[in-house]
Amino acid sequence: MNTNYVTLCFVLTLLLPKSSSAIDSHHTKHIPALYVFGDSFIDCGNNNHLPGGGNVNFLPYGIDYMGGKPTGRFTNGKTVADFLALHLGLPFVPPYLALNNHQRNKIRTGINYGSGGSGVLSDTNNMTSLTLNKQIEFFHRTVKHNLPKLFNNKQKLEKHLSESLFFVSTGVNDYFHNGTFRGNKTFALYLLTEITLRIQKMYTLGARNFFVNNIPPAGCFPSKAIHTEPRGNCNEKINKAISFYNRRLPAVLFELQSQLPDFTFMHSDLYKFIMEMRKNGKIYGIMETPPCCPNTIYGDLKCHPNTIPCPNRNTHLFFDEHPTQISNQIFARRCFYEETICKPLGLKLL
Ligand SMILES: *[C@@H]1O[C@H](CO)[C@@H](O)[C@H](O)[C@H]1NC(C)=O
Ligand SMILES: *[C@@H]1O[C@H](CO)[C@@H](O)[C@H](O)[C@H]1NC(C)=O
Ligand SMILES: *[C@@H]1O[C@H](CO)[C@@H](O)[C@H](O)[C@H]1NC(C)=O
Repeated sequence: MNTNYVTLCFVLTLLLPKSSSAIDSHHTKHIPALYVFGDSFIDCGNNNHLPGGGNVNFLPYGIDYMGGKPTGRFTNGKTVADFLALHLGLPFVPPYLALNNHQRNKIRTGINYGSGGSGVLSDTNNMTSLTLNKQIEFFHRTVKHNLPKLFNNKQKLEKHLSESLFFVSTGVNDYFHNGTFRGNKTFALYLLTEITLRIQKMYTLGARNFFVNNIPPAGCFPSKAIHTEPRGNCNEKINKAISFYNRRLPAVLFELQSQLPDFTFMHSDLYKFIMEMRKNGKIYGIMETPPCCPNTIYGDLKCHPNTIPCPNRNTHLFFDEHPTQISNQIFARRCFYEETICKPLGLKLL
């Protein structure tokens, strides 16, 4: 039933750098492009081009990125999408809104449509970010107007899309609507229905291989943990609500796989990763759960332009509300080398 799933895991395993394992050429499948959708976990600069100020195009964001330059990434360095591109042997994926039409006509290795603040739903921060529908609409334009310039017939274009990887990392912002937490079960089920519709839409546009993050434990984000008793603990109410969604996500993906020919997916447990890092991060050198920027847990907990971040960014789980580069790197490593985070959780549902 889930051979598709297993095949994709296997393919990703085989695409690790040469040192990690012997590559059997019979099973090596080339992934020609990485297309990225979602929120600030993976935005690499789209928000820089939006009005509304929902961007982080200033230091200390990017302080550890290629010589220390801000790019719009919501962390001190690389995102998981960057590490994923590295693992696949692809160039870093550029943000859609930074490209002119001439550039869009030339890119065959993937585009990032992600936007900080966005969610699955169209009413989530829709004035300051690209909603997932908007991101998919831009991808539609890529498929309709740009990629045909590179693939001169329909079959070649379909083949390109069917071999590409589609990374989707979204959902956490939907839980915080205009400052209030909406976390009942009805809402979670609604959110699952809505993400299903959007993945189906991507499928109809040609996407076949999906890499889907679940929702991180927002109750443990620094801005939430500061308000708990004792201070620093996770907000259990928020985490419980998110877990309800996360527990059902694998089944939703298996359901899509059973309905849609050639649909394959990798489910990645971002929630579990962050929980484990809070508990056992020490074994990776991650000693601290308060954010690195600001460098104190007092005040407004925002990382403003030229805020001085902590000097020891490789020992922090969070940069601001978002994981540090080192956390993203450990996540990618555990996903691809250890397969503990990206292992097939959903298998036992069958
Ligand atoms: C944007 O969000 C607001 C509520 O936050 C909603 O009323 C409006 O319909 C949304 N717009 C679109 C285009 O979905
Ligand atoms: C958002 O919240 C503010 C106050 O908290 C309120 O004035 C505003 O009407 C709300 N907007 C929406 C779209 O619900
Ligand atoms: C669940 O939450 C949604 C969105 O916040 C709300 O509209 C709805 O009334 C709630 N349902 C129940 C049963 O509490």
